[in-house]
Amino acid sequence: MTRRIAPSVLAADFGRLREQVEQVVGAGARVIHVDVMDGHFVPPLSMGPQVVSALRGVEGITLDVHLMVERPERHVDAFADAGADSISIHAEATPHVHYALQAVRDAGCRAGLAVNPATPLEVFGEVEVDQALCMTVNPGWGGQAFIPASLDRIARLRALIGDGPDLIVDGGIDAATAGPCADAGATLFVAGTAIFSEPDPVAAYARIAAAAGA
Ligand code: DX5
Ligand code: ZN
Repeated sequence: MTRRIAPSVLAADFGRLREQVEQVVGAGARVIHVDVMDGHFVPPLSMGPQVVSALRGVEGITLDVHLMVERPERHVDAFADAGADSISIHAEATPHVHYALQAVRDAGCRAGLAVNPATPLEVFGEVEVDQALCMTVNPGWGGQAFIPASLDRIARLRALIGDGPDLIVDGGIDAATAGPCADAGATLFVAGTAIFSEPDPVAAYARIAAAAGA
């Protein structure tokens, strides 16, 4: 399966958001990851559908929305209307996981299910997903260190979902961690700090892409 890097705009300079996104698109990025935090499921607040709308006009990209919000099913339509192409909801954030994934598909988006580092993976045996998001840090903040036990989880998650869906790794992904994640079965590599906090985001993108085999 094709491997791709998804720069996370959480680490971008929001005063130059579109310019920074166009820069990584110039480097080869075709997926942009948008982290939505509600101050409840995770402590911080981050951004809403307006940021998705602001980026929908960028040529040649898909917008991958990661909802770190409680009761995500209540917000799916707002993000789909804003221009999301894929939406991941958290298994821990709703008692209605199947319903929420169906709501994402009904809204015309690819449906993703995300899990925190301590969440059992068995739920992936109960639902169909277009993409599975394995948190490789605790959600809520950029710039954290990759949790090494994630590699075993990635391999088990790949076995559970089969070859079809994308397997997204999110948190602490850089040129050192991307390769082992790829070997374990990851296909979509979210990277924020390792791209946008570097002096040369284009070169940083290229290093991670090479390490991931993207
Ligand atoms: C963390 C977010 C990540 C975050 C990753 O809660 O889901 O997408 O942007 O940031 P880095 O790449 O800095 O670990
Ligand atoms: Zn994310």
